Amino acid sequence: MFSKILCGVDGSEPSMRAARTAAELAQKFGGNLIYLMVTKEFRLTDEAKQYVELEQLSGEPQYVLEEYAENSLREAARMAKDLGVANVRKEVKTGNPARTIVQEADLIKADCIVIGGRGLGDIGSILLGSVSHKVTSLAKCTVVTVR
Ligand SMILES: Nc1ncnc2c1ncn2[C@@H]1O[C@H](COP(=O)(O)OP(=O)(O)OP(=O)(O)O)[C@@H](O)[C@H]1O
Ligand SMILES: [Mg+2]
Repeated sequence: MFSKILCGVDGSEPSMRAARTAAELAQKFGGNLIYLMVTKEFRLTDEAKQYVELEQLSGEPQYVLEEYAENSLREAARMAKDLGVANVRKEVKTGNPARTIVQEADLIKADCIVIGGRGLGDIGSILLGSVSHKVTSLAKCTVVTVR
């Protein structure tokens, strides 16, 4: 039923639960599993660039972000392997999270997108994050929102 599953991971607890559900689905259906984290491009103002150069901090924010992405994706992939999923891939892309997730699903012809209902955002009262909402609206394939 699901032969290619794309799961959005932002490192949050709900996204790691989504990562587990995605792995269980992939295991059950013998499908390929791709974990994707979308990072934002750092755009520094001229003043900030000057500061970064003066303080010799060059590259640091990007490095921290890449390490965060790599750690979260590694954790998800390890969990999937432990659950017996043979084909797991990790990806990091830069851009708008919702649009990039949907574009990637189109590109790789995923038949299912798995995401958490919430992510890193901290507005306690909302039930559905904006990325979940947008992905559900824009995706052409089935979307599983993990609660
Ligand atoms: N940058 C991202 N890269 C990959 N997946 C993401 C990203 N951001 C969110 N997601 C996916 O979408 C799910 C819901 O996150 P979302 O961002 O919609 O909620 P939120 O952070 O609580 O709210 P908001 O971002 O609107 O403040 C996450 O559990 C994750 O599966
Ligand atoms: Mg968010």
